[in-house]
Amino acid sequence: MGLDFKVIWAIDAHVQLWRHPVNSIFLPLMLVCSFNQQIIEKGLRSKMYLTPTKADKFSFGLWTVGYNGTDPFGGPTRKGLEIEDVVTKLAEIGAYGLTFHDDDLFPFGSSNQQRETMIQRLKKILAETGIEIPMVTTNLFSAPVFKDGAFTSNDRGVRRFSLRKAFRQLDLGAELGAKTFVMWGGREGAEYDHAKNVSGAIERYREALNIFGEYVTDKKYDIRFAIEPKPNEPRGDILLPTLGHAIAFINTLDRPELFGVNPEVGHEQMAGLNFTAGIAQAIEHKKLFHIDLNGQRGIKYDQDLVFGHGDLMNAFTLIDLLENSGPNGTPAYDGPRHFDYKPSRTEDYEGVWDSARANMRNYLIFKERSKVFRADPAVQQALRNSRVSEISIPTLNPGENYNELIADQSSFEEFNTDEYFNGKGFAFVRLNQLALEHLLGVK
Ligand code: GCO
Ligand code: MN
Ligand code: MN
Repeated sequence: MGLDFKVIWAIDAHVQLWRHPVNSIFLPLMLVCSFNQQIIEKGLRSKMYLTPTKADKFSFGLWTVGYNGTDPFGGPTRKGLEIEDVVTKLAEIGAYGLTFHDDDLFPFGSSNQQRETMIQRLKKILAETGIEIPMVTTNLFSAPVFKDGAFTSNDRGVRRFSLRKAFRQLDLGAELGAKTFVMWGGREGAEYDHAKNVSGAIERYREALNIFGEYVTDKKYDIRFAIEPKPNEPRGDILLPTLGHAIAFINTLDRPELFGVNPEVGHEQMAGLNFTAGIAQAIEHKKLFHIDLNGQRGIKYDQDLVFGHGDLMNAFTLIDLLENSGPNGTPAYDGPRHFDYKPSRTEDYEGVWDSARANMRNYLIFKERSKVFRADPAVQQALRNSRVSEISIPTLNPGENYNELIADQSSFEEFNTDEYFNGKGFAFVRLNQLALEHLLGVK
């Protein structure tokens, strides 16, 4: 390993020299220092840490890299990809999983035989590449029949049809070893308040989800459900618009343990919410079953940018949370790191795969930067100064009750609130600046 470090370090030093003549003044000094830890780390990062492997559990939707560029204002800018090409390429770039809607693999209305042919093609290429199917989902939003929703359409016939379509995809998911069934109710909603009885629609949503809970239990499928909230688009307003709505709803189901959430970066940010904070709460409720990573810049339409190409700082704090906030700094989430982005319609197929790689590379950059951030003694001191860990200490003493709190003069009568004016700052800004400098690689 020592030799590897040296080689990487030497190459890195030469590249730096070549790029920046100014560095030539400093680098000989560093050479004297021999193993400058930071340079070694930088070399290792650039050469190894940023190469995705299956252990990173990166997965992509078939509809993501397969997106042909269609938007409400224009048709395709690329032709579709064959399933074999997608799966082969995903394996090549270091992903471990593929996810798909039923209609991504076999178009809506396919005959049984067309459906079966596509399933066999998928199985063959999965066996050849070792790519897994960790999650499946069902398209209950594209076909005209779903124009007023699926499980909550005012039309009861559509609701019955939707349940049947989802059962079929659940069976296929179980057959392919999927552990999660995502439920994004894109059309479950309305544009006009008088057009939808929201409490009635919530009752029908609950009915559907209770049926699915019963179905997988009876069939002994090892599958859990992950509800994906979104505030709007394609409907004017979508039911269960945020993580909070979804988690509250889950607690009203017959089998709440089978249901969690699949939050998407852009969806919470479209509602002006802090994604990292929402994920922290979902983890606290033990409801983070799956996650959709992408990039979004503010409150507007669903941009589906590459992960990291939107709110950069929030992406960094998210990965710090996912990777380092479990017990003793271990990951707090061990499921797939799923990218639900759209390669921009400006791109050709080289751009599609560049953007797929960028998602994973950015994730790994954030992960590495977060480790260096956490290990920095200056950051540890800043965290202490900001009293961040004090939040974990219960407010009452062990065994103390409210009567004893009331009897404790130091908690109120003698507590000096004046000190909080013109003093006792929390130094949160210094901590945030350290985070930013680590993220930007200045530290
Ligand atoms: C969107 C959604 C979808 C879902 C997908 C899986 O805004 O279009 O994020 O991409 O994630 O349908 O259910
Ligand atoms: Mn989306
Ligand atoms: Mn999504």
